[in-house]
Amino acid sequence: MVALELFNFLHFLGLAFGLGGATIASVISAKSEKDKELGKAAGKIMPSIVKFIWLGMALLIISGIALPFFVTWPLNNQLLVVKHVLVVWIIIIGVFIGRRMKKMQNLAPVLKEKPSAEFLKAKKQMKALSIINLILWYAVTLMSAFV
Ligand code: HEM
Repeated sequence: MVALELFNFLHFLGLAFGLGGATIASVISAKSEKDKELGKAAGKIMPSIVKFIWLGMALLIISGIALPFFVTWPLNNQLLVVKHVLVVWIIIIGVFIGRRMKKMQNLAPVLKEKPSAEFLKAKKQMKALSIINLILWYAVTLMSAFV
């Protein structure tokens, strides 16, 4: 059936945008910790990557809701429920990461100014939340192989 292939494709496209975007964002963040020049450039490219991650999530949700109506094979519904719970957590943590990012932009040190304690705290929180979310993205992908 064409609808099954279409929604399957959209699910994989969402996976590519979401998981790929989250992975690239982590690599850029880790590298810009050590490289100040890259850090400045990261601030410019990160919003576009974040948009791709959210677009990926939207595609995954829309196609994920549609897929059970078209699949002709049995699904592991228990695992699917666990997967949905993890997806909800990815979204909640994603919203928190977005807020921390905005806070960091507002508190960012100007020129040679010393970073404020509040800025460093927001940065630390964002780093921890990003790691948790990346692990969740991979956990959901791994789990999906068994759904
Ligand atoms: C982080 C979010 C998600 C990721 C990384 C993800 C990933 C995947 C992957 C890799 C598959 C296997 C596809 C296949 O074998 O053909 C899959 C299947 C599936 N996903 Fe997701 N998914 C996500 C979110 C969702 C959501 C939100 C829903 C439902 C609302 C959903 C519903 C399904 C269903 C029903 C299947 C089984 C379809 C099949 O066997 O082809 N997924 N998912």
